[in-house]
Order: sequence, then structure tokens, then C-alpha cells
Amino acid sequence: MLIKSSNTGFIHPVSSDITPQAIYEQRREWLRVMAGGVAGAALAGWAGRDALAQASAAVARPGKLAALPGGRSNFPGAVTMEKLTDYKDASTYNNFYEFGTDKSDPARNAHTLKVSPWTVEVEGAVRKPGKYALEDLLKISAMEERIYRLRCVEGWSMVIPWVGYSLSELIKRVEPLGNARFVEFVPLAHPKTMPFVGSRVLDWPYVEGLRMDEAMNPLTLLAFGMYGEVLPNQNGAPVRLVVPWKYGFKSAKSLVKIRFTEKEPATAWNKAAAQEYGFYSNVNPNVDHPRWSQATERRIGEDGLFAKKRKTLMFNGYEAQVGQMYAGMDLKKNY
Ligand code: MTE
Repeated sequence: MLIKSSNTGFIHPVSSDITPQAIYEQRREWLRVMAGGVAGAALAGWAGRDALAQASAAVARPGKLAALPGGRSNFPGAVTMEKLTDYKDASTYNNFYEFGTDKSDPARNAHTLKVSPWTVEVEGAVRKPGKYALEDLLKISAMEERIYRLRCVEGWSMVIPWVGYSLSELIKRVEPLGNARFVEFVPLAHPKTMPFVGSRVLDWPYVEGLRMDEAMNPLTLLAFGMYGEVLPNQNGAPVRLVVPWKYGFKSAKSLVKIRFTEKEPATAWNKAAAQEYGFYSNVNPNVDHPRWSQATERRIGEDGLFAKKRKTLMFNGYEAQVGQMYAGMDLKKNY
């Protein structure tokens, strides 16, 4: 994440790369307009969107991955109308240290990740532990499209249409016990297919964690896709977390284990540099990183010579949905 200078290696997209994204956005816009009209009730649902998607499938698909459509989420705050980040940027400017520390490494190296068969094991303080084959995990709840801002601790942000469902749907299914206070997320750490696992940058696997109420917050997404397709490997296929009010590193990729615990999980970045990366890591413009300010951010795709930095918002703009969980907490201490 922050071992090297982060601003090198970013390749600005050429216009031919942008076309599928532009079409995707047109389709969104069209749906938004229609949803507001008389036909809105029918078209706002997935049925209408699906018909339109089929009609324009040949051109609207951003890549060659399998389609993974999801109905637009109704949850307050789950869909920002900001301009989407170009698909090309979202899938070539990544942090996925198992595949290298450079932003361009994951897109180049993650093809070796074998995403099928895939299982996610649920264990620890739950009444119903078990192993879920990906196919079964996909069916636990209806897929939704959530358009989230993702703000990286390094000072850049993106706007990405994710596809998945609230992690709370899975949590309810496994029936946590009374002593389950935290949830630990464990990504795959397979040195044969992940060339940087074993490097000394981090203590592998890339463990992350949330407090139980954070994990149950409807905004916390178990994501299987983005831009209407399954996740590309470099974005955390086949299943990852997206926690939009926290710095991006909390959104662990390629999960194989979800563990319910009484004790706060020891997370990989906290173990690597405790003064810099706390357990909470809520986006907060008023609490600086020890080595830089967090007051502003650079939106990927807006980094021309005259592009202004944007002001970073408290809880990344999701204060109304999540602020209450931190009432009375000293956010400087609990960074
Ligand atoms: N998950 C794993 N397993 N390994 C990682 O290195 N990097 C994190 C997070 N999840 C990371 C990870 C960081 S620092 C960020 S900013 C986001 O993934 C980036 O997600 P994206 O590449 O899909 O934008």
C-alpha cells in the first residue's frame, strides 16, 4: 500500500478504452430518466434493466467476463450519482499486494489466481459454521448494484458500481453467538499462484476485521462483481468485501474464511505499522496519517494538469448511515 511512492505508473486511458464505460453510463442515465417517468415503476426494477441490458449487451459489456447483473439498491446512500470511474482505471490501477506492490502489478499478474472451485469457510462463534461453495454463496441473497465511493488511505478515490449483497444477509444465516463481537476476514494466501505471498511486506494472509455492528451495517457489501460483470481477478475475485466509509485497505479481497471472534482481530496492516493503520480506519479528513494529510483526495480519472483535488468527506460521505456507530468515540485515538 504505502511502501513506495503511489503516484507513479498510473496510465491515463486512451479514448478507445473509454467507450464501453461511456455506453454503460448512458444506459444508467437512460434508466434513471425512465425510472422517474410514468413507466418508472416497472423499469426501475431489474426486469426492465435486464431487457435493456440484453438489447444492448453486445456493446454495453465492459469486458469478456461473465455478466453478473444486480437490481439497483434501495438502501439509503448505497447509490451515488457521481460520475463512475472508468472501468479500465478501476481494473488496472489496483492494490492487491499478493500480486505485487505496484498499482499495475495486479492487472498484469493476477491471471494466475484460480477462482474456481472456490469455497468460503465460516467459523468461530456461530451456531451454524460451514463451508460455502461459491455457487451457494452467490444464492444467499438477491444481487444488488451499489455505486460506492472507495477512498484509499493513500489519497485517491474511485466511484465503482459493485454487485453483491449486504454481508449482514450471510451473518444472519450463520447465527452468531452472544460472544461474537468481531468478524475476521481472511483472503487466500497461496504462494504458487500469488507471487508476492511470502514477501516481507506483510504477514500473510492479508487479514482484515470489523466490529460486529460494522459488519452488520447494510452498507457493508459482500461483492462478487462490478460494472455488471463478475469481478476481474485483480479486483478481488471471486468474492471480496467493500466497506465504503473506511479506507480501501479494509475491503479485503479474494476471501476464503470469515471468522467470528470475541477478540479484536489482528489485522495485517495494523501488524505491519500500528501507528499508521488502526483497526477502525474510518475515512476522516480531520485525522491525518502520521506522514500526510487526509483532508483531500485525487479522484482517479481527474488527474489532468489542472484537476483540483477534492475535499475528503467525513466517513467518506456516509456519515448519515454510519456515524451513529461511533457516537462518543474518540476518533483520533481510534484511528
Ligand atoms: N485485499 C487483499 N487481499 N490484498 C490487498 O493488498 N489491498 C487493499 C484492498 N483489499 C488489498 C486488499 C487496498 S490498500 C485497497 S485501496 C483496495 O483493496 C483496492 O481495491 P481495488 O483494487 O479493487 O480498487
